Amino acid sequence: MPRELIVKGQASGKTLFSTKEVFPKDTNLLDYLRKKGIPVASSCYGDGVCKKCVVILNGKNVLSCEISSQNLFMTHLDKIVIIEIEYL
Ligand code: FES
Repeated sequence: MPRELIVKGQASGKTLFSTKEVFPKDTNLLDYLRKKGIPVASSCYGDGVCKKCVVILNGKNVLSCEISSQNLFMTHLDKIVIIEIEYL
């Protein structure tokens, strides 16, 4: 699993959240961030249609509703994961 997850707001230039906790299984990044109080935009409730839930994951734009916790673990094994949100 990632060593650390850091969420940054690009507009504010602030670190909004960071954790080294074990991520819950069977969730997606959108739901995880919202549960942590990060207001990620969405109007399709995670159906992958609205494209508003874009976050920058280690430098690449991704739809947070399409990133499963398992995918995040496997892709970013032993790395620091940095998520940036443009409008925050
Ligand atoms: S929540 Fe609509 S595309 Fe992700």
